Amino acid sequence: MMMLNSLLVLAAAMFALAKTPNGFQPASNSDLMVFYNNTAALNGIAVAKLVTTSEPQIGTVARLTGKTYAVLMIDLDIPTNSSKTNTLLHWMQTDLTPATTASRFTAANGSVSVFLLENRGNTSAFAPYIGPNPPARIPLSHRYTQILVDTTNLTSQGASELQTAAATRIGFTASTVLAQAGLSGKVVAGNSYNVTNPWPVQAATGATNANTSTSTTKTGATNTASFVPGASSTFASEAGGSLRYESFALVAALGVMVLIV
Ligand SMILES: *[C@@H]1O[C@H](CO)[C@@H](O)[C@H](O)[C@H]1NC(C)=O
Ligand SMILES: *[C@@H]1O[C@H](CO)[C@@H](O)[C@H](O)[C@H]1NC(C)=O
Ligand SMILES: *[C@@H]1O[C@H](CO)[C@@H](O)[C@H](O)[C@H]1NC(C)=O
Ligand SMILES: *[C@@H]1O[C@H](CO)[C@@H](O)[C@H](O)[C@H]1NC(C)=O
Ligand SMILES: *[C@@H]1O[C@H](CO)[C@@H](O)[C@H](O)[C@H]1NC(C)=O
Ligand SMILES: *[C@@H]1O[C@H](CO)[C@@H](O)[C@H](O)[C@H]1NC(C)=O
Ligand SMILES: *[C@@H]1O[C@H](CO)[C@@H](O)[C@H](O)[C@H]1NC(C)=O
Repeated sequence: MMMLNSLLVLAAAMFALAKTPNGFQPASNSDLMVFYNNTAALNGIAVAKLVTTSEPQIGTVARLTGKTYAVLMIDLDIPTNSSKTNTLLHWMQTDLTPATTASRFTAANGSVSVFLLENRGNTSAFAPYIGPNPPARIPLSHRYTQILVDTTNLTSQGASELQTAAATRIGFTASTVLAQAGLSGKVVAGNSYNVTNPWPVQAATGATNANTSTSTTKTGATNTASFVPGASSTFASEAGGSLRYESFALVAALGVMVLIV
């Protein structure tokens, strides 16, 4: 029993080494600490969507010595019409600087001291934060991955490459963008957590036979209302701006109704 426990602890410790998900590039084995209003969103755990609506506080356990940093957050599990998934940039904020004093947070393993990365100059985000909102499609659970990049030596041309790339959120490929900006090898920390769409639960309590012809219009409409927020956020993000939010939400709503009715 003791032996099994130690093995489990060891396995947990080994699992915790993967800060960015398997296969994600550029990978990092250093912890980026991510907290949403004191809720730790670390090490691949599933976090409630409600907690993640506003941008998190991020930091590191050891104080970083670079001048400036950028954080990128990417959804790795955007559903498409093919068997492959796509990516979506949720956040790109540059000009972050390490705090001089540590703040205390509560993580799964206890209280931790974290040097937050702060946007002291109030620099506008190249891609303003969009909270996770996975639609009711496979995969229901999405990995939201954050990487912290040392931008101390970023040139103005590099900054402009980042800004241009951030304008297209869908299909965002971090390794390509960082290479274009002259930031290959500058990732200093990473993290990932999941947010899951509760579609199966809703289907079980609502229209269990959602795709049979016996479904009433009312059932379809009720379901549409509860599913669309997930779909609309993704579509709004794909549109790259809030101007087209409404029309995309409508298209998404119609799409869901067609699926249900
Ligand atoms: C964050 O926590 C504070 C204090 O507990 C609370 O008042 C506030 O509503 C929380 N904000 C969010 C977005 O959960
Ligand atoms: C996916 O398929 C749906 C239904 O056939 C279609 O309306 C939609 O435009 C397709 N999306 C893409 C990105 O091709
Ligand atoms: C607690 O967990 C965080 C995040 O995984 C890690 O960075 C930190 O080193 C851990 N602290 C201890 C005391 O194990
Ligand atoms: C940044 O914004 C905060 C809050 O709005 C404000 O207190 C602070 O003075 C601003 N800093 C700069 C450098 O503009
Ligand atoms: C996170 O999402 C990925 C991709 O859908 C999935 O493989 C993994 O099991 C999920 N993990 C958790 C803890 O939900
Ligand atoms: C920035 O440039 C200086 C001087 O060339 C170098 O010593 C340092 O390692 C560089 N830092 C990063 C993060 O690229
Ligand atoms: C919906 O349709 C699919 C494909 O026709 C079928 O596999 C599935 O069992 C149906 N689901 C329900 C709840 O009827």
